[in-house]
Amino acid sequence: MYGNFVPRDPLGDCFASQYFRFDAPKPKHLSIQRSCFYGNVLMSQQCTSYKHYWQLNPNYIFLNHGCFGAVPKVVAEHQSVLRTALEKDPIRYLTPERELESKLDAVRNTLAGRVGAQPNNLVFVRNATDGVNAVLRSFPFKEGDEVVITNHGYNACNNAVRYAAERFGARVRLATIPFPISDPSQVIESVEANMSNRTRLILVDHASSPTGLLFPIQQLIELAHQNGSRIMIDGAHAAGMQHLEIEKWGPDYYTANHHKWWCAPKVSGFLYVRPELQPEVQPTSISHPYNTPRPGRSAFLASFDWTGTYDPTPILSLPAAFEFFDSLRDGGINASMQENHRLALLAQDMLCSELHVDIPAPSSMIGSMVTLPFDSLENQAAEFVRAKLFEDYQIEVPLYAGLKNERGDFVSPPLIRISLQAYNDPDEIRSLADALKQLGVSNR
Ligand SMILES: Cc1ncc(COP(=O)(O)O)c(C=O)c1O
Repeated sequence: MYGNFVPRDPLGDCFASQYFRFDAPKPKHLSIQRSCFYGNVLMSQQCTSYKHYWQLNPNYIFLNHGCFGAVPKVVAEHQSVLRTALEKDPIRYLTPERELESKLDAVRNTLAGRVGAQPNNLVFVRNATDGVNAVLRSFPFKEGDEVVITNHGYNACNNAVRYAAERFGARVRLATIPFPISDPSQVIESVEANMSNRTRLILVDHASSPTGLLFPIQQLIELAHQNGSRIMIDGAHAAGMQHLEIEKWGPDYYTANHHKWWCAPKVSGFLYVRPELQPEVQPTSISHPYNTPRPGRSAFLASFDWTGTYDPTPILSLPAAFEFFDSLRDGGINASMQENHRLALLAQDMLCSELHVDIPAPSSMIGSMVTLPFDSLENQAAEFVRAKLFEDYQIEVPLYAGLKNERGDFVSPPLIRISLQAYNDPDEIRSLADALKQLGVSNR
């Protein structure tokens, strides 16, 4: 048993954290003797395994947390308690003015403390794609306006920009950021080179999708504002990989997923919008609140609280995910993020050394993911290698064709992206290195 799950009158109590308790003392971790050598260094003699807290198939090495996240057992159990409560009394639970708003507000307050923003500036969305679409579909573009996106951006979100821009005759400019990369200033230079006095919006990832790099968002926000442009940060991966201080950084919009690195149930996310811009932003599904104000509540909150019938239990389980991480290690979620970062650097060092790859990114740009470029691999072979790793070596890890520039030419070799979460360990990185070597995927 992993912590003690104590439901307390889930119907009557709207504060998620009051009917969830991740019981002290701390969960009993499994201590495992490791024998993983890297060079002459015994990497970790006594290693704590956290795998048994997750539901992941034990027959696979799972190095793709970044794609859809993974939910710890105790958080999934919490969600199922909430679902039972919902189904016992769906009208009371789901009607905004009866219970839903106060339940969402409780989570919103908890979230606000974790991301450095006022609760009234935060709304819930289904996922980061939804958050980006809400902003883009509401954006007051005019013909001739320009939007800057990057070639490290998530294709779905770049498409949301393309769609919105096309409808208004706005132009999309793709900043080509190199990979490998030697310094965060290269991100700023590429974005700046694509700005003009017509730039109205920049959309940039906080932790880049195909390359897992932490972008210098504070400087990008300053760059946008100095040039009279708004900026949206897509933090899909950043929540749970970085400490967030949204209002200190000062973006116009920030969206992120709860279900990736915070390990909340699928699907849920949040959207931050600067107060002055909130009247302009509508959810992707317009529903009753559009013409039915909720007394004492901003239209911004009301319209995102209700977008038609949906399952709010993933959102309402977010505090349970926070409590899970708070209990997992001394030092709470910050300690977990630091440990993931340490493991990611170890993975970068080990894989680069074993596979003869030059270190592709500075450690300041690494969070919980590392990406390696393979010059010797054909773009068409990336999917073949991914499938081989899964089928023959039971390793789940993504490989992609290289990044492209505005003309559609490849500007990087094919990539492998490795995610490191609390349940991963150095032996798994070693297994990946061995498998890649056997498959002949190496830069030598
Ligand atoms: C930067 C970025 N934005 C958005 C998304 C989309 O996430 P979702 O499908 O949960 O909306 C991803 C997914 O990996 C991503 O990497």
